[in-house]
Amino acid sequence: METIKIDISKTASFIQEEAVENLKGEIFAAQQKLHAKNGTGNDFLGWMDLPSSITASELNKIKSVANKIRAKADFVVVVGIGGSYLGTRAVIDTVADSFDWLRTNRKNPVILYAGQNIGEDYTHELLDLLKDKSFAVLVVSKSGTTTEPAIAFRLLKKLLEKKYDAQDVKERIVAITDAAKGALHTLAMREDYETFVIPDNVGGRFSVLTPVGLLPIAIAGVDIDRLIEGSVAMEKQLMAKNYANNPAAVYAAVRNLLYRNGKKIEILVNYHPKLHFLAEWWKQLYGESEGKDKKGIFVAAVDFTTDLHSMGQWIQDGERSIFETVLSVEKPRYNVVIPKDNDNLDQLNYLAGKRVDEVNKMAELGTLIAHVDGNAPNIRISIPELNEYYIGQLIYFFEKACGISGYILDVNPFDQPGVEAYKRNMFALLGKPGFENETKAIRKRL
Ligand code: PA5
Repeated sequence: METIKIDISKTASFIQEEAVENLKGEIFAAQQKLHAKNGTGNDFLGWMDLPSSITASELNKIKSVANKIRAKADFVVVVGIGGSYLGTRAVIDTVADSFDWLRTNRKNPVILYAGQNIGEDYTHELLDLLKDKSFAVLVVSKSGTTTEPAIAFRLLKKLLEKKYDAQDVKERIVAITDAAKGALHTLAMREDYETFVIPDNVGGRFSVLTPVGLLPIAIAGVDIDRLIEGSVAMEKQLMAKNYANNPAAVYAAVRNLLYRNGKKIEILVNYHPKLHFLAEWWKQLYGESEGKDKKGIFVAAVDFTTDLHSMGQWIQDGERSIFETVLSVEKPRYNVVIPKDNDNLDQLNYLAGKRVDEVNKMAELGTLIAHVDGNAPNIRISIPELNEYYIGQLIYFFEKACGISGYILDVNPFDQPGVEAYKRNMFALLGKPGFENETKAIRKRL
């Protein structure tokens, strides 16, 4: 099988080759800390051997519950936020047919998302759609106490209870949460829902290869065996202690060197709209892992060529604090050829006979050269094809590189203390019991 590859040649005029070589000691020492599990945050390293340690019986349970839900519901709502939904959406959007949900003869349930926002109109429209649909709910929350999914789940549960009898409601809900604590765990136990456990030592943003991601991904009709096979292959490959065989080490080294040279913003670029949510997942992974202690690369993402018509100007010509990491897909799954037109009023006949992807690739190459000329260094990650196997590789590649990179930056890549601040203020403003003192203090500041 092929593998994803990294090309750093277009960073050469911004960092010297010997700098990458000189960082080798630090990089492989950081990797060793991960392997030996003796660095900061080492109680959250369960993600490292998830691919190779998942058992056939765990996968069979996931597939069996997935099949029951598929048989029961036309619509499946994944309720979760951050790491409890982004990995799921990243894989499904990248691999599944983008328009299957619009087909009347579709083979898979439509996957919808809730609890990833608190938008009242979004919530109303979702509930309104579901009131005459056959639906099921997967509620995903590691802590089991997150407000956004808890609100969405309460509303969806009420709707299920209005439509179905108690047994049917129970069969339409699956909870994925902590093994022993949290409000969701308590509720799931009381109501006797089907449950899956998120391991204690796997943080939310590293949890896509647990039931958090695998169950909804399987329900969507995506092959989770191949996803795991790809990630196992990458897990093995990234044990290498040299740059030549370890693209994650190269990526971690180069992005840190660029950062140290003033490139404070990394833009993840794709040329395939199906990768949009993969980039959202990546943003959480790196943003939440590295943005702390007043340090860290600011991570952003764009969909090209779409965003070349909006952000292209800034990237080409704005403040030179950016670098790009391009997700370059070698081979599309399908073949669409541009037809000849006898009138040629659109003057496109010079493209007749070419595949759409050939145009896309030339846009990618043209942009690469323009942006490097405009002083934006470019890292290229090539992915042989957008299928389960290579997305499995890509997920593990980014996770491992994130762990190494966070250690190089000298932060704990596995905590997220900063996400609590808004919650305390929100609870105080809403008058949550236990927040009375903060309520008075915060009201004075408004
Ligand atoms: O990475 C993380 O841990 C967080 O971003 C969580 O994924 C997010 O806050 C959701 O938390 P929970 O799964 O506990 O509801």
